Amino acid sequence: MGRIDQETIRRILDTADIVEVVSDFVSLKRRGANYVGLCPFHNERTPSFSVNRAKGFCHCFSCHKGGGPVNFLMELEQLSYVEALRYLAKKYNIEIKEEELSAQEREAASQRESMLAANEFAMRRFETNMTNTDDGRDIGLAYFRERGINEASIRKFHLGYAIDRSADLLDAARAEGFSDDILVATGLEVRTDDGRMYDRFKGRVMYPVLSLSGKIVAFGGRTLRNDKNIAKYVNSPESKIYSKSRELYGLYQSRQAIAKKDRCILVEGYMDVISMHQSGIENVVASSGTALTEGQIRLIRRFTPNITVIYDSDAAGIKASLRSIDLLLAEGMNVKILSLPDGDDPDSFAQTHSASEVEEYLAANEVDFIKFKTDILLKESGNSDPLQRARVVQDILRSIAVIPDNIVRQAYIQETGRHLSMPDTVLALQVDKIRAENAIENDKRAAQQRNREQFESRRTEEQKRDELDLARHAAATVPVSPPAAATDAEARARKRHTYYCFKPERALLTLVLRYGMMRLCEVYDQDGNSTPMNVIEYVSSEFEYDNFCFETPEFAAVWNSVVEIFKSPQREADYNSFMQSARARFDENMRKGTEEIRHTANDIDDIHRLELALREECNAKLNKETEDFEADYISKALINSPDDVLRNVTSELVCEIQPLSKIHSKYAPVADDRERLTDLVPGAMSALKNAILECEYDAIREKLAAASDSPDEYLPLMARQQQLKQMIKEMAHYLGDRIIPPRYKF
Ligand code: CTP
Ligand code: MN
Repeated sequence: MGRIDQETIRRILDTADIVEVVSDFVSLKRRGANYVGLCPFHNERTPSFSVNRAKGFCHCFSCHKGGGPVNFLMELEQLSYVEALRYLAKKYNIEIKEEELSAQEREAASQRESMLAANEFAMRRFETNMTNTDDGRDIGLAYFRERGINEASIRKFHLGYAIDRSADLLDAARAEGFSDDILVATGLEVRTDDGRMYDRFKGRVMYPVLSLSGKIVAFGGRTLRNDKNIAKYVNSPESKIYSKSRELYGLYQSRQAIAKKDRCILVEGYMDVISMHQSGIENVVASSGTALTEGQIRLIRRFTPNITVIYDSDAAGIKASLRSIDLLLAEGMNVKILSLPDGDDPDSFAQTHSASEVEEYLAANEVDFIKFKTDILLKESGNSDPLQRARVVQDILRSIAVIPDNIVRQAYIQETGRHLSMPDTVLALQVDKIRAENAIENDKRAAQQRNREQFESRRTEEQKRDELDLARHAAATVPVSPPAAATDAEARARKRHTYYCFKPERALLTLVLRYGMMRLCEVYDQDGNSTPMNVIEYVSSEFEYDNFCFETPEFAAVWNSVVEIFKSPQREADYNSFMQSARARFDENMRKGTEEIRHTANDIDDIHRLELALREECNAKLNKETEDFEADYISKALINSPDDVLRNVTSELVCEIQPLSKIHSKYAPVADDRERLTDLVPGAMSALKNAILECEYDAIREKLAAASDSPDEYLPLMARQQQLKQMIKEMAHYLGDRIIPPRYKF
């Protein structure tokens, strides 16, 4: 895989719309200027995930994950930066001009990336086998035809055929440059103990498993033989790119229909999904023959809380669905169950009925889990035995007890009471008792889990630090962090700096990132001439005047990039082209407005008055547009940067908006930060200066404590201490009453 050229990267990032990108993974609802949905990064039932289209980022107020489109994809789908760009390019049909990779770079391309590429290659080959080889046509394609699968479905699900030769895929993949190790890692090839390699799926029809982002993470291969000694299905092994419990077959092809219908239908197998799709029911996924996992349920819940489980009426099918039901209930899903006529599975049913017949059957035969369970359990035991009956009731109440929502629970209790002719109060008491027992059990388990996690997190903190270090070194264009502290004193100094200055630096940099290019004040030279100054220029000028800067390495790196972007000719060009189009819009609005006035005004005075108002309105619009452009430009440039430090720090500082407390926003108009820049920016600057003084004061105090009796040593220290004390005292004024150095006028 090649490198992507700068021009294309820019095009991709300009085109990517955060709302569209996120919508592929989460159902979003509009709320005011933002969109909200259930956070895909953590488990929740009320939405705290917010997406801001204008600013191009998303953010979870609960777990604080999010960022621009690239960060979102990287984090959610565990992609590399380049993979995320490729995903976006594919989504927006942007052609990528590949630049050649050096041998060394090719070597470094991540294993994940190579594995995905190998699977992609294999899928294409399996697909083309079906049309371009005799075996493919006579065996593979013939099989699907016989099972009633049409061409469109074959293409939609990328079905294929693996030629029945040990090294068919192996030879082709090697010729394409894939290493044996990668082919084994994906499971496409099996390496025997004596080192021989053979195609795992040879002679089987192939069902690729696509992740939510459309990557081919695994395959299922079905044998065409009726030999009981051969496994009917062979599946890809778990690997770096495939975790069976976190994928659902068909979700990629079904997610839009699931969101649109606000319901997901769960079936068992590959063929069930494909046949249902072919018959026109497109909101279907399969758990691939095993009981559903929590991870899979959460995947579904991102799109809908409503699920219909279709089960095979054989004993194994019923058992599997009973297990799934409790898990679904515990995850807060609304569960319906559907049984098909004896001897039918979704595949055969869909093949022999029209879409509307299937829909009708669904609507008429879906039952809630209580009816399902009572029917099954009572059928097993016979209706008469009171002890058996009690056991059935207990079983159903256990299911009800795991439902998280109180109101839903009560509704089901009533339903059960009706169904089994028992008083609700008795049932409710019993449910409470089960819940209490469960709670104790859960606490115990949670404590164990916490211990495990504490152990884990210690490890991951270390890993994270390593990663950050790596990222810094990778960022060749920005200054890297200072070398590891050589001495104890140095380490202490750094710790002290973090203690005093980290937060003020963070606050000031946040303002720079959010409002950097907005006009802040006028600055006067000796001759009394004034020039406008924006936030970046003001901060630069203060840094120069008092000779200091951000010292936290990550912040310093971001600050340097901010200045670089601000000074770049690209920025100027972007600004000019923005202004050009903004002015064109202004002119157009004026023209239209004037014309309208001509048609509607009564007399010349009217015309004058209306034209004045029109000009004012158009000016306000232009100003607002300019302000938006200036406010977002810097952060937008950095939020998708290839540099991990720049991208992550910017995402964190820009996205982290404290949600307004409800009372605050409801009863009092909240001043926009933008309107308070003249308070906020000098205030943050003073706070940082103050922190730096306090930091030095603290250091002097420590030195004094350690100093010898020699006046030569302690006198200068004391002098500096006095000086600092005085400066801190003066600073207090700045912090309280916003005293602005006389060289600026706000
Ligand atoms: N399965 C599997 N390995 C097996 C058997 C089954 O992974 N040895 C999974 C497959 O995902 C399969 C699903 O379980 O799709 C359901 O199994 P089954 O009902 O046996 O197969 P069908 O999907 O009905 O396949 P077909 O109709 O082609 O026989
Ligand atoms: Mn089947």
